Amino acid sequence: MDQRSYKTLARPLDIDAPAAYHQHQAGLRRSLMKEIDMAGLGVNIDHVATIRQARRTVEPDPVWAAAEAELGGACCITFHLRKDRRHINDRDARLLAQTVRCKLNMEMSLDNEIVAIAEEIAPAQATLVPEGRQEITTEGGLDTVKEFDRLAEVTKRLHAKGSLVSAFVDPHAPHIAAAARAGCDAIEIHTGAYANAWLIADQFRRQQEVKGRLDAISAGIAMGLDAGLVVHGGHGLTYNNIHPIAALRGFEEFNIGHSIIARAVFVGLRQAVAEMRALI
Ligand code: PXP
Repeated sequence: MDQRSYKTLARPLDIDAPAAYHQHQAGLRRSLMKEIDMAGLGVNIDHVATIRQARRTVEPDPVWAAAEAELGGACCITFHLRKDRRHINDRDARLLAQTVRCKLNMEMSLDNEIVAIAEEIAPAQATLVPEGRQEITTEGGLDTVKEFDRLAEVTKRLHAKGSLVSAFVDPHAPHIAAAARAGCDAIEIHTGAYANAWLIADQFRRQQEVKGRLDAISAGIAMGLDAGLVVHGGHGLTYNNIHPIAALRGFEEFNIGHSIIARAVFVGLRQAVAEMRALI
């Protein structure tokens, strides 16, 4: 069943009530994940497009990567259409929307041009992220307090197209609360600080810092769930640091890119995805 027919089937009869539909969908998912008690794996394929763009050529194709990731067990394909189109381009976004069979998650800023494209391709989920021109990758979570009005407006527009909306946030109470108030269905908790803690050379400091970051993430999960949000996690997660975070209860999905693509160079993408999935 492709994504479009899934969405058609899953749509409520009353298509004028998208908010109720999203609440229903989120509730269904939450109870299902509770039953099987594990988080799904979303694979971020931007890094494949980055390799292609290094030569400004046609390979490797991120659309092929999406198919391989699905065959390896990904339950979600994530891509980020950036304003500067440094990796994924408009052609990729449109083809992914037509070919991905599991959940398609479009990472995007609140920029008007990008929002218009998201409205056109209507991904199953949109994850709203901040975007800086100079950054190598997304650096921090979205400041949902500062961006509240725009976030609420974009969320409404995306809901009207049938997309679930997630906000990428640091595990900060005001940011999580504002995401819920703005009408988001989900949050993705930024795990970058946790991942960086693993890189501290001194073992004692590393343990302290990892524990502190895990505690903050746990509190963020609890806040998100209390606010009625689905909770995802992502950024900087690797084969080495996934265990403790996957052991936390409450995550519905992890979005992982760089580490999986790095491993895929040696073992192929399908196997790299399967290995990460087994660890989760
Ligand atoms: N989630 C979000 C919101 C991101 O911006 C990124 C990076 O594109 C990821 C997850 C994946 O991060 P990584 O490539 O470090 O696994």
